Amino acid sequence: MPKVPVQFALNGEEKAEFVESGTSLLTLLRDKIGDTSPKGGCHQGTCGACSVIIDGELKLSCLVLAETCGNASVQTTGGLAADGVLHPLQRAFLDHFAAQCGFCTPGMIMAAKALLDRNPDPTREDVVEAISGNICRCTGYEPIIQAVMAAAQGNSQRVA
Ligand code: FES
Ligand code: FES
Repeated sequence: MPKVPVQFALNGEEKAEFVESGTSLLTLLRDKIGDTSPKGGCHQGTCGACSVIIDGELKLSCLVLAETCGNASVQTTGGLAADGVLHPLQRAFLDHFAAQCGFCTPGMIMAAKALLDRNPDPTREDVVEAISGNICRCTGYEPIIQAVMAAAQGNSQRVA
């Protein structure tokens, strides 16, 4: 299989790799670069666990060919904390017990971040719609919705 070069920014850091043509971005991130924050659930675009933000758009990294990411800016949950301080969404997920096994959490957080980046003051319906492509088998979704709403409100205190 021929290898193709791909150069892109991952959480603000330049990366240059050679990948086999047809390799998914998810595989490149996890297996070559070592950013295991995007999770591989279904590998066919139905669970949302692999969600990342590419050039401001939420994408399923299992469906994105790595070779199409040249010069892109890719964000993952692995890059959200800064100087050891959690991103407000990460903090809110902790405070609202919005993660149990945690497998869906990175994808949920990226879906929420994509929402808050374009709409800092979402309604509950906006939040529900934004995470509708992300499957969680543990939480029943309510704590996740509360966490995203709290992060949007700049309030990561526990909702009673
Ligand atoms: S692993 Fe990509 S959508 Fe499930
Ligand atoms: S916390 Fe387990 S799948 Fe969502």
